Amino acid sequence: MAARVLFQTSARSHGEASMGERILLSGGCGFIGSHLVRALLGAGHRVTVLDDLSTGALTSLPASPHLEFVQGSILDPVPVTRAARGVDAVVHLAGVVGMRLATERREEAHRVAAEGTRRLLEATGDAPALLVSSSAVYGLGKGGPVREEDAAGPGGCLQYDGGLPGYASGKLALEAAGAEHAARGRPVRVLRPFNVVGPGQSAAYGMVLPTFVRRALEGRPLVVHDDGEQTRTFSDVRTFVACAVRLLSRPEAWSPTDLAVNVGATTPIRIGELARLVVEETGAEVPVEFVPYHRAFPGRRDVRAREPDVSRLRSLLGPVEWPGMREIVRDVVAWRRALAPSWRATVPPPRPAASGTAGGI
Ligand SMILES: NC(=O)c1ccc[n+]([C@@H]2O[C@H](COP(=O)([O-])OP(=O)(O)OC[C@H]3O[C@@H](n4cnc5c(N)ncnc54)[C@H](O)[C@@H]3O)[C@@H](O)[C@H]2O)c1
Repeated sequence: MAARVLFQTSARSHGEASMGERILLSGGCGFIGSHLVRALLGAGHRVTVLDDLSTGALTSLPASPHLEFVQGSILDPVPVTRAARGVDAVVHLAGVVGMRLATERREEAHRVAAEGTRRLLEATGDAPALLVSSSAVYGLGKGGPVREEDAAGPGGCLQYDGGLPGYASGKLALEAAGAEHAARGRPVRVLRPFNVVGPGQSAAYGMVLPTFVRRALEGRPLVVHDDGEQTRTFSDVRTFVACAVRLLSRPEAWSPTDLAVNVGATTPIRIGELARLVVEETGAEVPVEFVPYHRAFPGRRDVRAREPDVSRLRSLLGPVEWPGMREIVRDVVAWRRALAPSWRATVPPPRPAASGTAGGI
């Protein structure tokens, strides 16, 4: 697809030297990206977003004279070269995200992460690069908090992907590409998010919290994969973005070897409990149904427990306070209701929690 520049800042050509750096953000029209764009603009940077709009939306971007948008894929050299022109730093978020999408578009998920990352890194020279990987690189895991050095390796990622290279294997390749550039002296950081959630996240691609909230507000059953006893930690997008901006502010301090850093909340919740919380906070009269994982995702196995060890993040940024799950659910429910006010009328007032548990995505 050809590059399309929709609006372009002229800050640099107008000599606004007081503005911050120009930052290239791949995947900037997506959920995390749209929050990060605002945070970077708010911090005084100029931002170039490169996005193919496959899941992201142009409407998620704010209007700003300091924002440039280039439409195209990170797999396509033309838009990548155009977007990379004159950037001081790059944040790489573009990816095929969500268990459902990553299953349906497995090969693409792998290609975008593996090949796309290389293309983006090559096009941006030696500019500091913040690459967004995933907790999927820990594979199916073994329970307990995972440290950065616990990454599963190719075999474990392949197992996570269901036997053929997909999302997790792609993220491992993304990290390897970052390590190659770091070995040549380029500042590179790899963020490993753990279930980033919050207002703005689409329910269309199988992410568990927005899917639960949307179904509850539509009066439909919450469908839990597996027995609902599996646990996850959920990390508020605004706190995640604040961590990314702070990490980005001092690339000269980035380690040339310990590139990866877990970024996420540390209090796990069972998915069944999460379903109950959503029922409580929406006041929806909906049942919680259980579907065996293998029926939802044939050939795949679920991660039973996933939580980060955040010692490295703490050593870099000090303690990070993450909003609790109830607060996040409230925010997401409020955001969804504001999107579709007609839902409000169909949902009865809150009642005590429903029984039953729900499973994770
Ligand atoms: N949200 C989470 O819980 C979570 C967890 C772990 C990792 N991550 C990673 O964070 C990043 C952002 O995730 P998100 O939740 O914002 O997802 P998202 O789907 O909302 O955003 C991804 C963006 O990338 C764009 N994109 C996809 N393929 C592209 C391509 N080939 N070229 C250019 N743009 C492309 C999409 O249009 C979209 O705007 C992803 O790399 C994801 O793997 C997210």
